[in-house]
Amino acid sequence: MSERVALVTGASAGIGAATARRLVEAGYRVIAAARRLDRLEEVAAESGCEARRLDVTEPTSITALTDEIDRLDLLVNNAGGALGLDRIEQSDDDGWRTMWETNVLGLMRMTRALLPALRASGAGHIINVGSVSGFEVYHGGAGYTSVKHAARAVTRTLRLELLGEPIRITEVNPGLVETEFALVRFGGDREKAASVYTGMTPLVGDDVADCIVWAASRPPHVNIDEIVVRPRDQATVAHIHRRSSD
Ligand SMILES: NC(=O)c1ccc[n+]([C@@H]2O[C@H](COP(=O)([O-])OP(=O)(O)OC[C@H]3O[C@@H](n4cnc5c(N)ncnc54)[C@H](OP(=O)(O)O)[C@@H]3O)[C@@H](O)[C@H]2O)c1
Repeated sequence: MSERVALVTGASAGIGAATARRLVEAGYRVIAAARRLDRLEEVAAESGCEARRLDVTEPTSITALTDEIDRLDLLVNNAGGALGLDRIEQSDDDGWRTMWETNVLGLMRMTRALLPALRASGAGHIINVGSVSGFEVYHGGAGYTSVKHAARAVTRTLRLELLGEPIRITEVNPGLVETEFALVRFGGDREKAASVYTGMTPLVGDDVADCIVWAASRPPHVNIDEIVVRPRDQATVAHIHRRSSD
């Protein structure tokens, strides 16, 4: 059997980096892509994946990478994140634009560019990293919840459009995961970012990577439509158990 090939976007940190590592361990040739090549090279050096620069908001950057790929078994659309936690009254246009470009248009462009290569594999699989914010809302979260709701609609539409084709489509929706996510959301404010996880035990990137690799490793006739994975300490985005002594 020829070597299976996986492409993971947003693989320079957090869930994406953990997924790239786990997929190498599972026997894939892994292309790990993101904007920060230095960080990707660290992931590549320790795991054996290949580091490639990619900005999913830039069509030319996408083409430069995807034009070289003739055959792909697994696409993990993971690049994304949140910017700010402002009420709609105080919304920042640039932050919203970047979130839409990254989480929604980026996912669409990557998928569109790589569908032919996924078909060519004879058993392709697209795994989109969504969020519980794709079906829940919270104060100040509209910029991010709206993009993850949209990404969820795209995933579900793809499931319909790909019916009858040899391509599976899965959405993995995590709750709180301790990565660089909160640091990016709060513009590098470490104290604010750390406060998101105060007194509770969040997931780590590897917990979500585990779900991704499990879904990918089911037999080709089995489509895991959706996985929702949260810390035990989190029941909904708004219901989090925090221990006061932590
Ligand atoms: N952490 C959570 O609590 C949580 C919960 C639910 C869902 N998620 C979702 O999980 C995914 C991964 O997030 P994470 O928690 O692992 O956060 P993270 O540690 O901040 O990682 C985000 C990754 O996305 C990449 N990225 C951002 N913009 C990009 C762009 N324009 N082009 C290419 N890559 C880009 C970043 O790399 P570069 O900066 O190097 O480009 C980085 O590798 C995101 O879609 C996020 O929305 C996270």
